[in-house]
Amino acid sequence: MQARIEGKDGGGTQAGAWHAACGVDDLAIGGVLHVEIGGLALAVFRLADGYYATSDICTHMRSRLSDGYVKGDTVQCPLHFGKFDIRTGRALSAPCKRGVRSFATRIEAGRVMIGM
Ligand code: FES
Repeated sequence: MQARIEGKDGGGTQAGAWHAACGVDDLAIGGVLHVEIGGLALAVFRLADGYYATSDICTHMRSRLSDGYVKGDTVQCPLHFGKFDIRTGRALSAPCKRGVRSFATRIEAGRVMIGM
């Protein structure tokens, strides 16, 4: 069983409604999970300082970032190895030019909530 991280929420864009994505213990530090909320494919990441969420669809050719490789605070797409900043969604390397959308996160009753 992993320790819970409380009180440190991720960044992301302004939140509207909050949706439960997963339990706080569903992800180890450095882990990523694919979830679908409201028809959107999202990647939920757990870093050492909290949870972050981005679109799960690479802006290059639509591969799933949740199938990619997390290293530090970046995720590398499994198809052509473009990199994104997990905290902001910013594209960091070719062939990706456009970033992925990022979402606010918070912890509520042991669940990772995503603001959309
Ligand atoms: S599909 Fe992600 S880098 Fe090409």
